[in-house]
Amino acid sequence: ITVYRKDYQPYPYDIPEVALAFDLAPDATEVRCTMQVQRKPGASADAALVLDGEDLELVSVGVNGAPLPADSYRLSEHSLALYGLPASATVEIVSRCKPSANSTLMGLYVSGGNFFTQCEAEGFRRITWFADRPDVMSRYRVTLRAQPEYPVLLSNGNLLASRQLPDGRNEVEWEDPFPKPCYLFALVAGNLTHRETTVKTASGRDVLLQVYSDPGSESKTEWALDSLVRALRWDESRFGLELDLDRFMVVAVHDFNMGAMENKGLNIFNAAYVLADADTATDANYEGIESVIGHEYFHNWTGNRVTCRDWFQLSLKEGLTVFRDQEFSADMMAQGMDAAEAASARAVKRIDDVVALRAAQFPEDAGPMAHPIRPESYQEIGNFYTATVYEKGAEVIRMQHTLLGEEGFRAGMDEYFRRHDGQAVTCDDFVAAMESVYVRQHPDRDLSVFRRWYRQAGTPRVTVKLDHDAATRRCTVTLTQECPLVGVEKKAGADYVKAPYHIPFSIGLLDQRGQALPLRHAGETKETALLELTQQSQQWVFEDIAERPVPSLLRDFSAPVIVDYGWTNEELALLSAHDSNPFARWEAGQEFATRQILALAEARQAGKTLHADAAFIETWHALLTDPALDAAYRARALALPSEKTLAERMQQVDPPALAVARDFLRAELGRQLAAEFRQAFETNQTPGEYSPAPVPAGKRALKNLALSHLMAAGELDAQRLAEQQYDKAGNMTDSMAALSALINFGQGDFPQTALAAFYDKWRDNALVVDKWFALQAAARSTTVQTARELMQHPAFTLRNPNRARALIFQFCLNNARGMHHPDGTGYAFWAEQVLSLDALNPEIAARLARALDNWSRFVPALRTPMQAALQRVRAHEGLSRNVQEIVSKALEFA
Ligand code: ARG
Ligand code: ZN
Repeated sequence: ITVYRKDYQPYPYDIPEVALAFDLAPDATEVRCTMQVQRKPGASADAALVLDGEDLELVSVGVNGAPLPADSYRLSEHSLALYGLPASATVEIVSRCKPSANSTLMGLYVSGGNFFTQCEAEGFRRITWFADRPDVMSRYRVTLRAQPEYPVLLSNGNLLASRQLPDGRNEVEWEDPFPKPCYLFALVAGNLTHRETTVKTASGRDVLLQVYSDPGSESKTEWALDSLVRALRWDESRFGLELDLDRFMVVAVHDFNMGAMENKGLNIFNAAYVLADADTATDANYEGIESVIGHEYFHNWTGNRVTCRDWFQLSLKEGLTVFRDQEFSADMMAQGMDAAEAASARAVKRIDDVVALRAAQFPEDAGPMAHPIRPESYQEIGNFYTATVYEKGAEVIRMQHTLLGEEGFRAGMDEYFRRHDGQAVTCDDFVAAMESVYVRQHPDRDLSVFRRWYRQAGTPRVTVKLDHDAATRRCTVTLTQECPLVGVEKKAGADYVKAPYHIPFSIGLLDQRGQALPLRHAGETKETALLELTQQSQQWVFEDIAERPVPSLLRDFSAPVIVDYGWTNEELALLSAHDSNPFARWEAGQEFATRQILALAEARQAGKTLHADAAFIETWHALLTDPALDAAYRARALALPSEKTLAERMQQVDPPALAVARDFLRAELGRQLAAEFRQAFETNQTPGEYSPAPVPAGKRALKNLALSHLMAAGELDAQRLAEQQYDKAGNMTDSMAALSALINFGQGDFPQTALAAFYDKWRDNALVVDKWFALQAAARSTTVQTARELMQHPAFTLRNPNRARALIFQFCLNNARGMHHPDGTGYAFWAEQVLSLDALNPEIAARLARALDNWSRFVPALRTPMQAALQRVRAHEGLSRNVQEIVSKALEFA
């Protein structure tokens, strides 16, 4: 069954108050749900009260204190309908569920002997029958009763009371003063330790902040709690948004489908985004924790105080909250730096975000699952927590920020909260608030064209033409946009035509020596001009330009588009050496590297010998030795584009050829720039106490990049450096980098011995064991056979999503040689794992299913076995709705 956005109907009842009482036990938890229901004015008197429910056992239904006669309700597999209710009534439903048997990790489940919940998007219906949709908002009062082996009993809001019952169990009562949709409900019960602090909010209230985790892990929650304090402060200062509760809790759990969840006042987190110390967490882990803690905290306003009317509006809260967490991270990274350093730190964050967008969202937008950031339809909403809704959604918010400016955007946010605090609203409502500011700034414009970003899928391509007339000293820039039909649009027929987008396109011009040219544009003279492309093709003229300039395009990635311009390699080298915009400077190097690797992959396919271009090596040499560039930026500038990004540029994707080409270039750079890499390795050591701060993290990134080049090149002594680093590393970033270099490029016994010792040392730390699996799953020499052997390891289980991601997902998504072996065994392995996972956890299975999305664009030798594997999965009986949607779209809309 497909659900369509256009079919939205308001719910006929209000449910202002809900009381939930839980008698918690792993094998049978009883839930009493008492709700005040009121028929909405205007709703038909015979409108049934239809409640959702899944995997529940019904114990009783009562209305206004009396059991409901059997002919007044109808129970079906997924719903409970009550008929003939008075306009206002108290409905009481008692039901039972079995948390210990819940392997889906949606609803109420057991992990590590404790109880947790996950309700977004449609998990609350696995806890009790309810109107499981975000536009039904209620005040919750929650009673939890459990045996003393579950001493910590948490739910949303404020703790009202806590007592011991005559039967020896504990009972607590919680109340959340803010009305909320049921997807924000949460409970946690178990044996947990915590770390806490009290802070004063901007208006002077004391609030209690707590981070809960497994006993024994209390030393690993300092960074998470500090990040939470920083997030609270940042939302106050940048957006004027204050914490509205007296208490805010974060709880870490090891079995979790996603990163984390913003339940009101009780965020539940994948332990991977909470626990960290120098010995066990990498720089990337620290950064991830800060960003996810920020993300969930920021949802308190963008998501919770103002929520979504329906799930098609998911990007209303996710795109906006990702934008906010990106800005938070950027501000944290730039903190305490001078202007130039801060600009570089911000560029590094922007580069990392764009790299992620291109690796995950661009392929999605070009494949069978392509959807607008506000989808028009879905079969399973769990499949739409996508890079498009999240990351492209954040880009669409960022473009509004770019168009309005920081101050204008803030005014738009204030207006959004003024209009909609306490409501469940749509993406249109958000844009309307922003537009109210935009039209004040520009009485002759509006955001009507801009709104198409919410309705149309696919990545627009902007073609740039540059004409220079030496006689008139005029430079004319022509921008032309087009957006191909993608996914289901291709089936829509000839009458479906996409309209142009409103694209903020930021550019600069350099002279032939790399100097920035002043641009006279929109009444100002600046180095960067923001062109607003709103039609299919438009022209801009820049006066007083003596010679033909080199354009620096889409500075700061001002829009999520693909740029088409025919730079020469010489121009790319010039931009890479001189562009004053650090993002565009990085981009020029990446484009140069992309051309190199694609050419090498073609040579490989044609069976020719591979040669690296001297001008390219010289460009990398210049970046590597430029003293004006800080280490973090240089690490990004020198990183070769990922295989995922490169694949998007191939007519017919050939992952093994790409992997060989990329490896060749990495090794060749290592050989030709050995002295310089060696120098970078030596001068970017970070002795002394570990700090995850951006400057030392940047040094480690550059040093470890240097090490990987030296190892790949088989440079004399490189393995000794790696072995030494591994033996004396004082932090997990350096341990993992050395081990990875050794496993992928090392010789002799050391790598395997180190790998075994690493496991023995960390076998009791699940998050480190995940790293151990992930390293091997993605290693160059790992085959399907190796992956199967790793699955036999006693520490492996498909039931824990982090473990499944570490081994199965790493192999299927990040091991080009193993997964895409021409014998097709990788695809057969994928099909098997999708089916095994589907029996346990459909949401995770559907994520893995997406590994074959873009099968139809692969070389024929791979395409055929890929298609067969997809067909095999689709033919499987009893497939979940989640996986069904993914594989059928992959086969139909490719
Ligand atoms: N709202 C959460 C976040 O982005 C994600 C929840 C996703 N839940 C799910 N079952 N897929 O912060
Ligand atoms: Zn979110």
